[in-house]
Parts: sequence; structure tokens; C-alpha cells
Amino acid sequence: MPEMKPWHEQDIFWETVAPVLFTQQRWSDASAEVDKVLSLLRLTPGTHILDLCCGMGRHSLEMARHGFRVTGVDRTRFYLDRASEQAEIEGLSVEFVQDDMRTFCRPDTYDGVVSLFTSFGYFEDPEDDRQVAMNVYQSLKSGGNFLMELMGKEVLGRIFQERDWDEENGTFILQERKVSSNWDWMENRWIVFKDNSRTEFKVSHRLYSATELTALLAACGFEHIDVYGDLAGNAYDHTAERLVIVARK
Ligand SMILES: C[S@@+](CC[C@H](N)C(=O)[O-])C[C@H]1O[C@@H](n2cnc3c(N)ncnc32)[C@H](O)[C@@H]1O
Repeated sequence: MPEMKPWHEQDIFWETVAPVLFTQQRWSDASAEVDKVLSLLRLTPGTHILDLCCGMGRHSLEMARHGFRVTGVDRTRFYLDRASEQAEIEGLSVEFVQDDMRTFCRPDTYDGVVSLFTSFGYFEDPEDDRQVAMNVYQSLKSGGNFLMELMGKEVLGRIFQERDWDEENGTFILQERKVSSNWDWMENRWIVFKDNSRTEFKVSHRLYSATELTALLAACGFEHIDVYGDLAGNAYDHTAERLVIVARK
């Protein structure tokens, strides 16, 4: 039996869940999200941004519309093709690169790097996460910022639901969640119903608290690390919706 690749390395996973991940609402939300991201990054048009794990380019395309030079990196060819098609339709110049976040590194190139919508923490070996953060550190110019936006451990603990389901454009996803006993890892079972077929995936990822992620970034050399509870820059307190970190090289 050939060894199964982890969920995040399977094209079939990303293709199957795309309608539920990238809903019309999420495409619309991207515009306001980019405004907030740019304000937290304090960047002016013309500067160079890396959108790490850019998916179908929701944010890359919007940043290009604002006049930024953008590189979008993602492993999934299918997503990058959609992103490139949209860029061409709009006459936008965006560099889309197929690569793995564990290996993509362009020393001293970017004024800002973003990792949005929980695109970090996928790997079983925590050293891989550290390698990703090191790649980002090296790819930033001195004084550049890295912005991460993900589901923080503290937020998850507050809103945790063992089971729920979601429906979008005829695709149904049923999710069952389990957290490891030391709260460092989450195992989800995703059952997807689409076009009369049923597919099941094991979707797992590392859970980071604000303190743990701050420590990881500090160990890579980042300084001036700020923590927020959303992209608007509100506090990461008991009302926080997301974990947002801005770390300066
Ligand atoms: C939750 S989606 C977020 C996409 C995008 N940031 C957005 O907000 O629309 C995570 C993305 O990470 C990409 N991805 C997963 N593993 C990756 C890896 N090792 N290297 C690069 N991209 C990866 C997937 O293809 C997917 O597009």
C-alpha cells in the first residue's frame, strides 16, 4: 500500500473543499480584510508584499488592485490557475508561484509578508513550522513586517464545538473535532458530500496560543511582536475572534 500523503499535500482535498472555503461571502470580505492588513502593516502602494499560501488569490488580487507589487505563493496548482485567470481578466500584474512554504525563500525581498485564514501549523513536525517562519524572516527586508491571522488556541477553547456542519453551493461539510490532551494538536474529521458522492478527510493541525507563536517568531529573530484579536487591531482578550500577530524583522 502506498503511504497516504497528509491532507494538506492532497490536491483532491483542496479541490473538494474549495466551494466551502472560498465562498462568495469570503471573496467579498477580502476587500475589507486587505484594508485592515495594509493598515496594520503600514505599507504604501508600490511596495512588495508576499501572500504566503495565497489560495485562489482573494487577498493577492485585492492588494494588486491597491497598487502593491504582489507575489502569491501556494502549493495548489488548481488554485493558482484560478488566481492567474482572474489577474489576467482584470489586467493585474501579480506573480503567482507554485511552491511549498517550507522551501520558498527569497532573501531580503519583501516589505511585508502575510499568512491569512489559518495557513500556518499544518505540519506534524514543529520544526517545519519553525522553518516556515525562518523563511519568512529571511525573505523580509530589514524593518519589514510579517502578519499572521489564524485561529488561536484561546479562541478555539472558547468557541469549541465537537461537531457541526456547513453547506455552500450544494457542497456539505460535516466536521468532528478532537483536541489532544495537551492542547498542542487538533484532529478533525471532515465528511464532504458533493454531487452524490461522500469523501472523508482527516484534517489536523498544530494549535498555537499567542504566547507560543510569539516565542516561535522571537526565536527566529523577529522583534516588536504585537498581538491582536482581529484585523481591526482590537485586543486579544476574552472577546477575540482570531489570533493576529504582527512581527517586525
Ligand atoms: C485555508 S487556505 C487559505 C488561502 C488564502 N490565504 C485565503 O485566505 O484565501 C490554505 C492554503 O494553503 C495552501 N497550502 C497548504 N499547504 C501548503 C504548503 N506546504 N505550501 C504552500 N501552500 C500550502 C493551500 O493550497 C491553501 O491554498
